[in-house]
Amino acid sequence: MAKMWAGRTAGDTDQIEDDFNSSISFDSKMYRQDITGSMAHAAMLGAKGIISDAEASLLIESLAGILDDIENGKLPFDMGAEDIHMFVEQELIARIGDVGKKLHTARSRNDQVALDLRMFLRDESDLLVEEIKDVLSALLEQAKQNRATIMPGYTHLQRAQPITFGHHLLAYAMMLIRDIERFGDTRKRINCSPIGCCALAGTTYDTDRRFEAERLGFDRISLNSIDGVSDRDFCVEVLSNCAMLMMHLSRLSEELILWASWEFKFVELSDAYTTGSSIMPQKKNPDMAELIRGKTGRVYGDLMALLTTLKGLPLAYNKDMQEDKESVFDAVETVHNCLKVMAPMLRTMRALPDRMKKAAQGGFINATDLADYLVKKGMPFRSAYKISGQLVAECIAKNTVLDELPLEIYRSYSELFDADLYHEIALETCVEKRISEGGTSVQSVDRQIAYVDAFLNGEV
Ligand code: ARG
Repeated sequence: MAKMWAGRTAGDTDQIEDDFNSSISFDSKMYRQDITGSMAHAAMLGAKGIISDAEASLLIESLAGILDDIENGKLPFDMGAEDIHMFVEQELIARIGDVGKKLHTARSRNDQVALDLRMFLRDESDLLVEEIKDVLSALLEQAKQNRATIMPGYTHLQRAQPITFGHHLLAYAMMLIRDIERFGDTRKRINCSPIGCCALAGTTYDTDRRFEAERLGFDRISLNSIDGVSDRDFCVEVLSNCAMLMMHLSRLSEELILWASWEFKFVELSDAYTTGSSIMPQKKNPDMAELIRGKTGRVYGDLMALLTTLKGLPLAYNKDMQEDKESVFDAVETVHNCLKVMAPMLRTMRALPDRMKKAAQGGFINATDLADYLVKKGMPFRSAYKISGQLVAECIAKNTVLDELPLEIYRSYSELFDADLYHEIALETCVEKRISEGGTSVQSVDRQIAYVDAFLNGEV
């Protein structure tokens, strides 16, 4: 096919080569950014007298027409085009002839694609942050409802100490707050305009890069033109943020899957977010949570793919960099989808406090509190720890629990035991006494709830 860049070469390339080279099938996603960027470029060319005002106006008007036609479905993408940039330019030239040919003055596809991608990721990050906030508020609602719901806390997936379900969910809220902060931080580096770097070395025209940057809502411009066209750090950062976020969603998904199992039955997921089995009528499978966990691997893969693509590239632009977009688009879309499922799945989840309580009553999760009881009565912690362990062994042998072991048996281990021990090792007491900041007592959980609330209201 004949090429717009045909000059040195005749421009007739093989169809297989054309297909291999073309990126329009995926970069057409950036049509809006591409056209908006071109409108700002045309305005700058006009403002600087590089083209006439009339030419600039015609370019801007025609670009706006192309944008409308794409959005109204009147102008389908030509899959034979090399990429979105060539498609728009070709269409412009078809519509207005020679003036259209002036748009690409003092610009290159190298700075153009970097610009498009930054504008695209700027919007996508903002959207992702909104979606994470929705998951965060779903977690918060559940945490509020379950601020005093006792469940076993685990280490090594072994029952460890009593906590509240609200406290546990708020741990995820803290992770998501960090994720939101990371996206916000990355956005500062995304929002730096590369346009005007041209192919790599800048340009001989008297351009105004800051004019374009300002029009397009950028905070600043890249200060080195070679870096401006070669830098894909912002893509890596977004992918890394996505990977981290997915890691959090995946851990939460794993817990939802466990909790929804018959073995735990701590929660009931809404029918809307589970599926049945085609063969086993009793099944209610947590497929959505499993898919989120599964898609995490895919997003990690996108990050690894991009890092690997970039690692050996000499400066400045190399065609390898066209590969950045599929990783970026795939990751961002996957994360959008996961967040959109996670929020309502959490909102409609029903906690089963009785089951949680029952699980908390087994497993001797008040053994630490029993040891602390002796310590508070003057025994050194290590000795107290040993006696508590022996009492646990005694309970296991007698098939009972600490709460029901008779006082005589306690006293046969230490004279320090008194009847008040039963109150001290009650699950509610164990929870209520953990008043240290960040701890599991209801008052401490309420402070965490207040923090997340304030975060969502933009107050912290
Ligand atoms: N489609 C290309 C990409 O995505 C656009 C930049 C092409 N630049 C070039 N010098 N061939 O990277």
